[in-house]
Amino acid sequence: MDVTTFYLDDGTAIPRLGFGTFQLDGDAAYRSTLVALETGYRHIDTAQGYANEAEVGRAIADSGLDRDEVFVTTKLKPSNAAASAVRSSTGQSLEELGVSHVELLLLHWPAEHVAPLPETLEAMTRLKEDGLTRQIGVSNFPSRMLARAFEHAPVVTDQVEHHPFLGVEPIEQVLRSRGGFLTAYSPLARGQVAEDPVLTEIAAEHGVGPAQVTLRWMLQRPGVVAIPKSGTPERIRSNFDVFGFELSPEQMARIDGLERGHRLIDPDGGPDWD
Ligand SMILES: NC(=O)c1ccc[n+]([C@@H]2O[C@H](COP(=O)([O-])OP(=O)(O)OC[C@H]3O[C@@H](n4cnc5c(N)ncnc54)[C@H](OP(=O)(O)O)[C@@H]3O)[C@@H](O)[C@H]2O)c1
Repeated sequence: MDVTTFYLDDGTAIPRLGFGTFQLDGDAAYRSTLVALETGYRHIDTAQGYANEAEVGRAIADSGLDRDEVFVTTKLKPSNAAASAVRSSTGQSLEELGVSHVELLLLHWPAEHVAPLPETLEAMTRLKEDGLTRQIGVSNFPSRMLARAFEHAPVVTDQVEHHPFLGVEPIEQVLRSRGGFLTAYSPLARGQVAEDPVLTEIAAEHGVGPAQVTLRWMLQRPGVVAIPKSGTPERIRSNFDVFGFELSPEQMARIDGLERGHRLIDPDGGPDWD
């Protein structure tokens, strides 16, 4: 299995370890994204709602990398789910980011209170056809809603909370059957993996840390992409240092056993989860 890259059927390559930028504002977003790109991350996750697209875009420009070396994801605010706002707000995002297109545009949360799902997805599909985004997808969609999305548009991913304490098998099943990939957000359970005794024990067996073990566990499972966030340069670097060791099947199974339905992000008005 290729632990570095996921390939879509059309040949599109998605770097499987990306950098998350939620709660990185202003200069912290710029500096952290730049450290991430210098470290080797080639997949950056931002959103209209993070109010840091301009800083993320500036870091990409200042990194010295060619634009086509970096996979950039942004997300539509749910309030921009109506067709006209899908187009106008994506234009604003591209302007903020300073790019002519993104690699992936997601709908951040289900937004049927704003516009019917087919309307949003068809508007996103038109942006793909017009070259403003290479791929489209959704975020925070439970499995049945995700299956509906596939009926209306060529989505490639569902970005959802996933870490050793929260499994998302029904969503993974839908994605696998359609050639898509899971994007795991909060993959470190917002830092809680660092306190887990099983992860810490396995980490000691490899001379690494529990966050590295967690990310490696994700990369050794087919179809999973992870986007850890850190504003700390040493952690940004160590979270990417996961390609020099391998977990055994027994260690993988021990980590699988940590699943306990522990959801950290469940806002009012969010979807009913599987
Ligand atoms: N689609 C959505 O609705 C959605 C929701 C949430 C997140 N996301 C995306 O997913 C990304 C990651 O999720 P997240 O930020 O919620 O959580 P996360 O990546 O699981 O965890 C980030 C937290 O863990 C800490 N941390 C990072 N590396 C660590 C390490 N090696 N050891 C110990 N602690 C460590 C960070 O602290 P420091 O920063 O202080 O190092 C931060 O507090 C976000 O940035 C965003 O891009 C998307």
